[in-house]
Amino acid sequence: MSEKISVGIIGATGMVGQQYIRLLQHHPWFSISYLAASPQSAGKKYSDAVAGRWHAEGDIPSSVEDMVVHDAQDVQGAASRCRMVFSAVEMKKEEIARLEESYATSGIAVVSNNSAHRWTADVPMIIPEINAHHAECIRAQRKNRGWQKGLIAVKSNCSIQSYMTPLFALLKAGYLVDRMFVTTLQALSGAGYPGPSAFDMVDNVIPFIGGEEEKSEVEPLKILGKVSENGIVKADAPRISAHCNRVPVLHGHSACVSLGFSAKKPELKEIESIWRSFKAEPQELDLPSAPRQPIIVRSEANRPQPRLDRDADKAMAVTVGRLRPCNLLDVRFVGLHHNTIRGAAGGCVLTAELIKAKGYLN
Ligand SMILES: NC(=O)c1ccc[n+]([C@@H]2O[C@H](COP(=O)([O-])OP(=O)(O)OC[C@H]3O[C@@H](n4cnc5c(N)ncnc54)[C@H](OP(=O)(O)O)[C@@H]3O)[C@@H](O)[C@H]2O)c1
Repeated sequence: MSEKISVGIIGATGMVGQQYIRLLQHHPWFSISYLAASPQSAGKKYSDAVAGRWHAEGDIPSSVEDMVVHDAQDVQGAASRCRMVFSAVEMKKEEIARLEESYATSGIAVVSNNSAHRWTADVPMIIPEINAHHAECIRAQRKNRGWQKGLIAVKSNCSIQSYMTPLFALLKAGYLVDRMFVTTLQALSGAGYPGPSAFDMVDNVIPFIGGEEEKSEVEPLKILGKVSENGIVKADAPRISAHCNRVPVLHGHSACVSLGFSAKKPELKEIESIWRSFKAEPQELDLPSAPRQPIIVRSEANRPQPRLDRDADKAMAVTVGRLRPCNLLDVRFVGLHHNTIRGAAGGCVLTAELIKAKGYLN
């Protein structure tokens, strides 16, 4: 690889933005050339902007501590400094949609954590191990919007990542799932910083996360959908019923999942073997952030656990365990992933690598 691609982080001071900084500091293809956040942080040195709220592992990398944070609205400033931005801002949905479109219009590739464009038909919502081919709809997107170099690709909600790859591996092996029952146990870092107060969370579980159950029930259908001329047409199965809970865990979303198969039902041993051997395009392309094994199967009765399993394979693998028969549907299991890495910054970096490998950043 010759020269690295210059990238920016919009929302660089936040919980997810900090993970981007950490993950990109030694990236073989991308180098950070631009940081942006709200007007409150704009004009400050990065280390001053995050003083007292740096929560990523290790110290602030020396390569960014003196970089000046820009106002996220300064799209032209970004266009003169970078080819791609990772978007992780917390603003109103419509404002984020407009902001990301203005970056793409000015020729920047936008890879976003936000939900603003998840249901825009010509915007692919990518989990690289599942629907790498959805990147094809970037062609339609560019045609529809007259963009030459700009594009928008998004990732799904973090809550679904603990079960989407295990589900997809079974679908790919020919076992059709038409019903799913899911209960998520979602970490505090998923709410951004500072998130819910300690007084609300210690010794407690909050059985509601605004909008999360709806997203968990419908986003899988776009990810499993088909590419058409005008964008993605969503799949019509499985039907999902989700309960989403906030729990006092720092990082790592767990999901307790029951699956109902519509026809053939695999044996438990076969499910385990499908999961253990599952590999996909990121592994075939040997993308720098791809986990070697996207699904890690634990056979201990008490795994996966957030503290023990969230960092598996660069915190990019999904760990599953407790696979057993279900008394109501067919089988049940527990899935777990690191929400701010696999479910946010790391997932988007992997998508960016995929987009680059497919030639959309040329
Ligand atoms: N946390 C997770 O696990 C997770 C997972 C998946 C997706 N996401 C999504 O990723 C996004 C960021 O989440 P987060 O957890 O990192 O949130 P966060 O910790 O609250 O950080 C929010 C970021 O947005 C910036 N911001 C706020 N208002 C802004 C404005 N008016 N203009 C420009 N920038 C503004 C903040 O800048 P200042 O510091 O200057 O205020 C900060 O950089 C959200 O859309 C969230 O839904 C989060």
